[in-house]
This record gives sequence, structure tokens and C-alpha cells, in this order.
Amino acid sequence: MIDSHCHLDMIPSWGNKEISWEEKKREIEEILEKAALAGIDKVLNPGVAWEDMENLLDLGKSFPRVFLAVGIHPHEAKTWEEGSIEKLKEFAKDPKVRAIGEIGLDYHYDLSPREAMQRAFSEQIELAIFLKLPLIVHSREAHEDTLRILQSSHAEEIGGIMHCFSGSLDLARAAMKLNFDISFSGSLTFANATRLREIAKNIPLEKTLIETDAPYMAPVPFRGKRCEPAYVVKVAEKLAEIHSVPLEEVIEKTTRNAERIFRI
Ligand code: NI
Repeated sequence: MIDSHCHLDMIPSWGNKEISWEEKKREIEEILEKAALAGIDKVLNPGVAWEDMENLLDLGKSFPRVFLAVGIHPHEAKTWEEGSIEKLKEFAKDPKVRAIGEIGLDYHYDLSPREAMQRAFSEQIELAIFLKLPLIVHSREAHEDTLRILQSSHAEEIGGIMHCFSGSLDLARAAMKLNFDISFSGSLTFANATRLREIAKNIPLEKTLIETDAPYMAPVPFRGKRCEPAYVVKVAEKLAEIHSVPLEEVIEKTTRNAERIFRI
């Protein structure tokens, strides 16, 4: 299995921001060993903020099975300014970088002005098209604007992933038309996620990916605890149940999709 979206660089800081990067890396090593035992070979760690970028590249160098995306999260869009494209382009040159993300719009938390989120989003799509890298899109309570910007920026030229999907079936279908696959996290396993499971059922496994979004979104039965990549199997099991297919089929198809999109 591949955990297509996991913030390894954030896991060890869960509740303890004082520990050094070297200590965090030791903890990440243990987390990756545990994941390997659970059948997770590769992990994609997306970018969030400028200050994490150097650590992210260091993770890619230190762990052969960790691949990266670089990008500025909508929460951080207020830090996107003149010249940011050039700065991000430099980070994207690293050989472990396989996507631009996570980028998008988050109108649930509104931690950056919406105008800033939209500008950072469209300029990063422009960069991804230039670099021919797929996109990892975060959209929360902003589905109409997300779709409008993806369409007007010609995101279909590179496509990518709608991560931690929480939209409607209409949005999923529109995104698939734009060359995007749909990724489900532990939220698929939540007791109140009946609507999301109905949507997942209508998306072919050939267009589906699995992720943890760790350290957030821990699946049942770990809900509320610190999430880690080993738990991605819970998402795969839920998809097998939803589609009434063997677990092996879900694993094979979702792994192939992640390998194809990220070239890993
Ligand atoms: Ni994320």
C-alpha cells in the first residue's frame, strides 16, 4: 500500500513542539518501520508552509520510501507573495518532489483571506503545469470556487488528486473529468460518514486513492488519537466493504493509481 498523503514531518510534534528535528527523525523512522510491517511501502509527504520546506527535503533524502510534494497550504496563503513562484520552483527541483501540494481553498477555517487563498492556488497550478507535476488539492467548504479555479487554470493539463475528499458526487465527477483522482482518508470510516461512503461507492477504484492525512483524521478504531501511515489499511478495508470486493483488489488498484500519478 501507499499512503498518498501523510504529514510525517508533523507527527512527532503532536503535543510536543520542543523536540529537535533529529529526535523527530528518529521517531519518524520508527513510524515508517511500523508502517512497513503493516504493508505500507511508500509514503507521500505534502508541503504546508515555507518554514517546513527544508525539513521536508531532508526527509526525502533520509528515507528512500518517502516521496514529497511542495506547496503552500490554503491556511498559509497569506505568506504567498510576489516572487513566491520562483522560490517554490527551486524547492520543486529536488528529485524526490513528485507533485505540487497541498494547495487549494479552505473556507471552513478561513485562516487566510479568501482572495489570498485563490491567488496562491491559481499561481501554484500555473507552476505545476510549467513543471509538469500533478496537483494535490485541498478543498474544504469551498467546492464551487475550487472547481472554477481548476477549470479556469486548465488544471486538466496535469491533473492530480482531490485529497481527503469531502465534497459532493457532482464535484467528484467534475474533478475526474479534469483528470483528477479522488483520495479518501480515515474520515471514510467515521460513524456519521454515510454520505461520503455513498459517494465513494460511485467512484471507480481505478480513480481512487487511499491516504491517512496523518497526524489528523485517524480512522476508526483509532479516531481521536494520533494518526500514522500504518492505519491506511483501515481506509482500504472500508473501501473493500463499500465496493464489495476483496481487500487485495483495493490495495492493488489504489497502489497502482498512486504509482502512476506520482511516478513512484
Ligand atoms: Ni494534509
